[in-house]
Amino acid sequence: MKDNDVDFGLRTFLKELGGIAGGTALLATVPWLQSCTPARLKETAGEVVRIGMIGTGSRGQFHLHNLKAIPAARVTVLCDTYEPNLRAAAEIVGSGVKTCSDWRKVLDDPDVDAVIIATPLHLHAEMTIAALQAGKHVFCEKAMALTEEDCLAAYRAYSSGDRVLFYGMQRLFDPKYLEAIRLIHEGKIGDIVGMRCHWFRNADWRREVPSPELERHINWRLYREYSGGLMTELGSHQLEVCNWALGLMPVQVTGMGDIVYWRDGREVYDSVNVTYRYSNGCKICYESLIANKYNGMEEQILGSKGTLDLAKGVYWLEEDNEISGMRQLLGQVRDGVFSAVPAAGPSWRPELRSRYVPHAVMKGNYGVAAGESMTGESGDGSDVLLEAFCQACITGEKAADIVEEAYCSTLLCLLGNRAMETGRVLDFPAEYVIPYMKF
Ligand SMILES: NC(=O)c1ccc[n+]([C@@H]2O[C@H](COP(=O)([O-])OP(=O)(O)OC[C@H]3O[C@@H](n4cnc5c(N)ncnc54)[C@H](O)[C@@H]3O)[C@@H](O)[C@H]2O)c1
Repeated sequence: MKDNDVDFGLRTFLKELGGIAGGTALLATVPWLQSCTPARLKETAGEVVRIGMIGTGSRGQFHLHNLKAIPAARVTVLCDTYEPNLRAAAEIVGSGVKTCSDWRKVLDDPDVDAVIIATPLHLHAEMTIAALQAGKHVFCEKAMALTEEDCLAAYRAYSSGDRVLFYGMQRLFDPKYLEAIRLIHEGKIGDIVGMRCHWFRNADWRREVPSPELERHINWRLYREYSGGLMTELGSHQLEVCNWALGLMPVQVTGMGDIVYWRDGREVYDSVNVTYRYSNGCKICYESLIANKYNGMEEQILGSKGTLDLAKGVYWLEEDNEISGMRQLLGQVRDGVFSAVPAAGPSWRPELRSRYVPHAVMKGNYGVAAGESMTGESGDGSDVLLEAFCQACITGEKAADIVEEAYCSTLLCLLGNRAMETGRVLDFPAEYVIPYMKF
């Protein structure tokens, strides 16, 4: 294989990183990218990792499409208990791929170096631990597990062994996020004083079911036996970003969750509001609702000198907003914003965010993915994440901090659910603290 044939996605990613301020230095400071330097890629060019995939539904098939463009990846076995998904996946891979319905067969297969797990959440820990114990490298989709105990068990299985483990947290491989975090850590928006993340959709989150006995298998996301609902499905990505930005873990959590609109037999909330509090008083205000999409998806880090929205790749500086409240009000009257309300009293909002000037985190077309898809978005880091996983399998080097970040964000999701269920303010439980965490 020619050198320039290898690692197209990773190379593009590295080029993008090179194009942003301090690109090479940035690469050197992101712990999970250490084995992905151009020099390391060159050393391993032409080597192949043989992959078995367990769970070939939406996300699994999305990964299979991405794997086709990764020269180092060869999919040898596919496993699923639902025949239509297995068949569709086999068509993506093409002739020669083995198929089975018993996931343990994938672990026993000598033609498998690494396993990709894209099954419902309740299966993640059991499959991950068994795969590591069988000597396979593992890529498991987020979130880490459905219970705190299972998160800890998976973390221990990983940290006591020598196998590679990745989780499907693509933001860690998205240049827009990497650069945004660099700007935050460099002090561009001052001290972090708060964080606001939300994910709004207007869709029932249901999938069509060909016959009623398949309801729970196909719509597993809606039932607590298999799913942590909005917190683990959506919140896990966003809470991870907050931890990454602040470098700390919250000490307390409280929240409220309800089924407000989709009263269709589901068990998970369609509306969640959770507050996480750090030891310095800083808070994450987390909200997700799937019966109104006006607010879209945002991940705002609020600083004493500005605000950075990681999802949008945009920041706004406080110093840009020096226009006086009265001038704003006059402008709004002129623009007809307040034509129907009196020009004084509670409707006067002198600090509207429309008056801030947006600055792009990166030049070029790095707009936010709409966040509508249950499967993934192209160009959101998922392809680079997979390729970095293949690279780690080839070098055998564990990628620093990925498992720890997955552990921290999943724990926060599960604690958020527990706080909503109990209606209490919960302290971070001491028994789930790992050495990586700082409070
Ligand atoms: N990182 C991301 O942005 C992202 C996006 C979408 C989904 N995901 C995650 O991917 C995972 C899968 O989600 P999905 O939307 O693809 O779900 P899905 O229901 O479409 O696919 C899950 C597949 O697992 C199969 N399965 C269930 N039990 C099995 C078993 N015992 N053995 C083998 N196969 C089994 C199902 O038949 C199905 O084909 C979830 O954890 C989800 O959170 C991550």
